[in-house]
Amino acid sequence: MSDNIESVLHEDRKFPPSPEFSAAAHISSEEQYLDMWNRAKDDPAGFWGGLARENIDWFQDFEATMEGEMPETKWFVGGKTNACYNCVDRHVTTWRKNKAAIIWEGEPGDQRVLTYGDLHREVSKFANVLKKLGVETGDRVTLYMPMVPELAIAMLACARIGATHSIIFGGFSADAIADRNNDAEAKLVITADGGWRRGKEVPLKKTVDESMERSPTVEKVVVLKRTGGDVSMIPDRDYWWHDLMEGESADCPATELDSEHPLFILYTSGSTGKPKGVLHTTAGYLLGTTMTSRWVFDLKDEDTYWCTADIGWVTGHSYIVYGPLSNGATTVMYEGGPNWPDEGRFWEIVEKYKVNIFYTAPTAIRAFIKWGDEWPNKYDLSSLRLLGTVGEPINPEAWMWYHKVIGGENCPIVDTWWQTETGGIMMSPLPGVTATKPGSCTTPLPGVVPDIQTETGESLGANQGGLLVMTQPWPHMLRTLYGDHDRFLDVYFSRIPGRYFAGDGARRDEDGYYWIMGRVDDVINVSGHRLSTMEVESALAAHDDVAEAAVVGFPHDLKGEGICCFVTLKKGDGSEEMEKELIAHVRKQIGVVATPDKIKFAAALPKTRSGKIMRRLLRDIAAGRESAGDQTTLEDVSVLDKLRASDE
Ligand code: WTA
Repeated sequence: MSDNIESVLHEDRKFPPSPEFSAAAHISSEEQYLDMWNRAKDDPAGFWGGLARENIDWFQDFEATMEGEMPETKWFVGGKTNACYNCVDRHVTTWRKNKAAIIWEGEPGDQRVLTYGDLHREVSKFANVLKKLGVETGDRVTLYMPMVPELAIAMLACARIGATHSIIFGGFSADAIADRNNDAEAKLVITADGGWRRGKEVPLKKTVDESMERSPTVEKVVVLKRTGGDVSMIPDRDYWWHDLMEGESADCPATELDSEHPLFILYTSGSTGKPKGVLHTTAGYLLGTTMTSRWVFDLKDEDTYWCTADIGWVTGHSYIVYGPLSNGATTVMYEGGPNWPDEGRFWEIVEKYKVNIFYTAPTAIRAFIKWGDEWPNKYDLSSLRLLGTVGEPINPEAWMWYHKVIGGENCPIVDTWWQTETGGIMMSPLPGVTATKPGSCTTPLPGVVPDIQTETGESLGANQGGLLVMTQPWPHMLRTLYGDHDRFLDVYFSRIPGRYFAGDGARRDEDGYYWIMGRVDDVINVSGHRLSTMEVESALAAHDDVAEAAVVGFPHDLKGEGICCFVTLKKGDGSEEMEKELIAHVRKQIGVVATPDKIKFAAALPKTRSGKIMRRLLRDIAAGRESAGDQTTLEDVSVLDKLRASDE
């Protein structure tokens, strides 16, 4: 058997940008893109060095743009800079001083706008608070907070004094916090009494209290008052944010840090074992997020830009905070759920703030489709000029819906492929250049040199599915897994020596466009054909009655692996006829080889808190096994029980 992954998805539609969009874009022609891409490939040091001097403010210029081979490449060696300085200070000496940096909306409907001037004052004060609490350059600080402006303020204050932040998404358990505190040896935790989520209070401080029993390195806890809920404060350990800030000086110059100074750790789940502490450093990450924000979102000073991710994920780090703020942009931040108080909330926010650029995830788009067009149709979305997606392959059906119902057929869609480890967007359409194809993340950005290879490192030709690798280092790549450099080398650089491989399968089509086929762990082998489960899912989702589908393999006597489909319908519980219809539908869309063996209807699918379907758990159900692995990242455990119960 070859180790190619067979691709069965065919998509011929193509959507070029309008001439008006192209004319006004930062990158506006194919020639300009190709010129940048080729320069970056042939002379990465010249390309990135030039951009770094133009786009980042330095306290001290660097001596070498890059030093060492991947994966040990160091960037901007000898330079001194500060990420917070670049996101805040450099704007307050310009006309942007009174420009909105963050427009925030709380779930209950409260609002705040922080100008760059406000942000500078608050961040400087809180950086002084951190120093007084004994936090020093190089210390690690855990943030476990709701989506409120103080989360961004706390991140930037850490960056200002060179403390490395480790943000933990507000839905994680006390055990997860303790594990991460211990792995990072965090000295301080910053949290809030609670946050709002679908009308309920999420009791953050209470969870932190539980985690403290197992977090010996943590000395102090800062607590922001957000909900006003009951909390217990332990003297000499717990301090109210507002008490600490009162009367604090707003004079705190940004610390001059080495380019490779650790900016943050972000834990991401591994397929097995303990979470991986992905480490990003200062200058390379900052340059990567600055440039990709500008190229991909075509950010302009007059734009109102909204990324709906939670800052607890890398998307929020890179594209709510560091990338947009470094560009001096206006970034919208929303605290709560998309369906609170009703399913129109996101569109209400778009209308209210006249959002121009909107960046969300395919899982959210599929939920919007399920909720019905009447919600977006109630609001004026005509301010939108550009849409984006991230996090999973987007099925062409959802892409078309996004294009028509949200974009009014007027907005380019940037399908951005990247990872926590890559720090910033790697492959994406450039909205003023690329003719998009629904379901493809199209082409690599300047400085990104990918390839599709076999397990033995041979390049594959057009339309052959294989392993997606990076052949050249880039400034914003992860530097290590915190405290475990061997695991870093093993996970990302051992499968194909000399190449970065982080687990995705993909193919490149005859136009050089990339199509992500999902994680290679999600490939199934049916009668000797390696199929991407994502493509079967995409075929199912193209059926009018299907809201969402997840497809996994299970041991099959004849075929090796059989195809089991978990399907959520837009309406109703499913029936035998529907099952037959869906099987026929997949056979028609893909072919006999992909004929589903089982269809299971489910009201909901098990997802991680960032919205990715947990196929590992579905594989256990399909195979009739108990689930042994880690389930702490599951959003709603009851979904699993329901699926098992329905399994006759
Ligand atoms: C998947 C999120 C297809 C992919 C920024 C990747 C995507 C993993 C896309 C990283 C996309 C992300 N098309 N697949 N546009 N974007 N992925 O670390 O499998 O949470 O490896 O980073 O999400 O997820 P992570």
